[in-house]
Amino acid sequence: MRVDVVTVFPDYLAPLRLSLIGRAVERGTIDLAVHDLRTHTTDVHRTVDDSPFGGGAGMLMTPPPWGAALDAVRAQGQQSLGADAEPHLLVMSPAGHRFDQATAARLAAEPWLVLACGRYEGIDERVLDDAARRHRVTPLSIGDYVLAGGEAAALVVVEAVGRLLPGVLGNAASVVEESHSDGLLEAPSYTRPATWRDLDVPAVLTGGDHGKVARWRRDESLRRTAERRPDLLAGAPADRFDRRDLEL
Ligand code: ADE
Repeated sequence: MRVDVVTVFPDYLAPLRLSLIGRAVERGTIDLAVHDLRTHTTDVHRTVDDSPFGGGAGMLMTPPPWGAALDAVRAQGQQSLGADAEPHLLVMSPAGHRFDQATAARLAAEPWLVLACGRYEGIDERVLDDAARRHRVTPLSIGDYVLAGGEAAALVVVEAVGRLLPGVLGNAASVVEESHSDGLLEAPSYTRPATWRDLDVPAVLTGGDHGKVARWRRDESLRRTAERRPDLLAGAPADRFDRRDLEL
């Protein structure tokens, strides 16, 4: 997968060179390029922002540098992926569609993502409208809170998507069993020592009965989801639950 990130703080994306995602970048599973928006400004002050029409607090990112940057990134990507390739532009914004595990899985199947990181009060809407004349554009929010800019959100999206790419995780089963993969939170988990500070690992996990372990995990998963994230249970389709789930 090719991933381009456009930002006024390229150094903010340095963690993508570390750990699991860093190794995927080194191996070429992720072809990552981080671009400095300011290289596409034309004035001595390298201006990327201006005050909003109609008034309002704060500054907005002005279209010309974004247009130039996105054109350049698209041309670069087409050189490596082919002239017919088109990116999917993801614009990081608290006003975007909610980014969740299902979105991450869908994006992991795409060949080319471009992430635009806004600062200040966001990006002039025409940048999105113009890009949408050529390819898909999706505003994405990583949660119902406001960050100082889209960079931290871009880190989250690249990590959540990147770890789903074939060969990035050592153990593919961990993707199947983890929290959110089935719409529920994962059950609690334990490792050695079996007793620590007078706390014992639940006996069912050391008993060797795989059927019982599976049922216990399912019960704990439901219990934990009901307590911490009742919204997830309320949103799940009824056929996701069997008779024993409902006895709980
Ligand atoms: N930029 C600022 N806040 C954000 C959020 N919650 N998600 C994505 N981008 C953002």
